[in-house]
Amino acid sequence: MAKKIFVIHGPNLNLLGEREVDVYGKFTLEEINAELEKIAKAHKVELDILQSSSEGEIVEKIGSARGKAGAIVINPAGYTHYSVAIRDAVAAVNIPTVEVHLSNIYAREEFRHKSVIAPVATGQVSGFGVESYKLGLLAAIKLAK
Ligand code: DQA
Repeated sequence: MAKKIFVIHGPNLNLLGEREVDVYGKFTLEEINAELEKIAKAHKVELDILQSSSEGEIVEKIGSARGKAGAIVINPAGYTHYSVAIRDAVAAVNIPTVEVHLSNIYAREEFRHKSVIAPVATGQVSGFGVESYKLGLLAAIKLAK
């Protein structure tokens, strides 16, 4: 059976659509996931989608990707900037990983300019709103092949 693409949404992304709409846009997480499912269907790949605000759950999900996921798309949200545990999980599984952000983290507060995940990710897409996820998924599909 073909491997899946894991899509991991970090903390507070469940509040999209109502949370800081000027920064993150009006799309809800359900709408973003629906867009991703359309792309997945067109490319005949299966997604395994998780939203979690728990660092431990995200670490466990990444760990469980070994042998199951061909690639990972992750928006680590607030954990981007300091979670050594998530960074180590990405480095440990050795699966192509695309880091995505709705906002341009480099155009915002200084504490968001550093991603501890980026050095172990295959690449990063930041600043295109929902398109960041769509571009990230297309990259992940290519990387999984
Ligand atoms: C975010 C950017 C992070 O700095 C922030 O903590 C988020 C969302 C983004 O998608 O733009 O929660 O990852």
